[in-house]
Amino acid sequence: MATAMAQPAQESREQWNHQAGFILAAIGSAVGLGNIWRFPGVAYSSGSGAFLIPYLIALLTAGIPILFLDYAIGHRFRAAPPLAFRRMAKWAEPLGWFQTGLLFVIGIYYAAVIAWAMSYFVFSFDLRWGDDPATFFVSEYLQVGDPVVSTTPVWGVLIPMALVWILMLVVLLLGVANGIGKLNMIFIPLLVVIFTALVIRALFLPGALDGLDAFFTPDWAALADPNVWIAAYAQIFFSLSIAFGIMITYASYQRRKANMTSSGLVVAFANSSFELLAGIGVFATLGFMAHQANTQVSELEGLTGPILSFVTFPKVIAEMPGGNIFGMLFFASLVLAGVTSLISIMQGVSASVQEKFSIDRIKAGLIVSILMGAVSLFLFSTTSGLIALDTVDMWSNNIGIVLSAIVMSILTIWIMRRGRELRIHLNAVSTFKVGPWWTVLVGILGPVVLGFMLVQRVITLITEGYEGYPGWYIGVFGWGTIAFVFIVSVVFTLIPWRRKEFSDAQFNAWPPVKENRS
Ligand code: PHE
Repeated sequence: MATAMAQPAQESREQWNHQAGFILAAIGSAVGLGNIWRFPGVAYSSGSGAFLIPYLIALLTAGIPILFLDYAIGHRFRAAPPLAFRRMAKWAEPLGWFQTGLLFVIGIYYAAVIAWAMSYFVFSFDLRWGDDPATFFVSEYLQVGDPVVSTTPVWGVLIPMALVWILMLVVLLLGVANGIGKLNMIFIPLLVVIFTALVIRALFLPGALDGLDAFFTPDWAALADPNVWIAAYAQIFFSLSIAFGIMITYASYQRRKANMTSSGLVVAFANSSFELLAGIGVFATLGFMAHQANTQVSELEGLTGPILSFVTFPKVIAEMPGGNIFGMLFFASLVLAGVTSLISIMQGVSASVQEKFSIDRIKAGLIVSILMGAVSLFLFSTTSGLIALDTVDMWSNNIGIVLSAIVMSILTIWIMRRGRELRIHLNAVSTFKVGPWWTVLVGILGPVVLGFMLVQRVITLITEGYEGYPGWYIGVFGWGTIAFVFIVSVVFTLIPWRRKEFSDAQFNAWPPVKENRS
């Protein structure tokens, strides 16, 4: 046994400084814009209090199991997605590039949203948005034009965006332990403190309790609606950052003997707690808004997504005593939550490139951040930014990621038949043991539920279009996004590996599973 467990001697791979570094980075990736602006609105429109049931079921049946799958793949095969999948089976490399391609796409628009939040942090000082935050956001700040591709720069967006990309570059160059690890070590505790202060303040606003009532009063009938269940699964996926290859990458920097499943539970639990906290904070604030307008929360509009953060919230902030500080705390939270998610995206892409081309971390970091920064600035700092962002977001999250999750679980469990091996791997290093139920959830329930979701979405998008945007536009920015990611997976797979041992995909995974049958 002792020899079977002996670890392979040398390992040049970067590593987290300690277990906490990994956990905080994983939480940093999971806790993002999705928690603050997506969860409260989705929960509210999908049965309010009753939504917690599908949400919890989705977390337990798909969220945590697929999080464990990501961890197991990354930790056992010790690479970013393309090489990790290649090490499982040579032909599986395109799936890795598909995930990397999705990260590329998400990263370039995520940076824009962080930039908006930075601007709004500054605008909070003098409530620059005035009495009509909707017009301010769309016309004055973003200068939104028709959905056409525009090259007119919007300086108020371009400058903070450039800052975001410089920060990404610096952190990437500092590396996993000293860059990403330290960034999260500072940003995550700061985020928790700031956001908790914000929620406590919100709870003392007049009308706050009505807001909480609206948020928590269950609408049981919603549970009969399949769309509510779809919304719950979609929320869990996006929110936990699973099936994007991020958790594969992060887990690959864990020491060989690191408690994987227990950290997974901590991450999942922390993410959901933060989500709930955000729901409470957002709805307490909306309760105040309804109170001010002498109406009900149910009458309010703009309760999710960019509109919630950049139109509805500014409106409430302007009416609130001490609104400037509230605004600063809110937008600072968005920036902190966003930056820690974006860096996980960047590391996923950068590590994939680094391994494929056998270049060092510095080179890969430079190439990837400059390239992504340039594309991101070109597409999203112009007057067509908002609409492009909304469309790309819809397709990458509702089609791309679901597809990636389905293919990943089917290939891993059914085609490559790695389910048992990965389960044994997790159990060999972790204290929380996963039973055969895990394989069933990942291999059967997951693909069935997700497959159903995917078909539904595709039908709706084809028959109803999206937001009334013209067909050609949806073709280019919506379906085009998916086509782009497909092309990335084919083209990058065809490029030869520079290092022979990667090209052969021979890899002695540790611990060896045969000697470790338990
Ligand atoms: N999990 C992040 C959130 O909740 C979003 C994200 C998705 C981050 C994919 C990285 C990768 O906002």
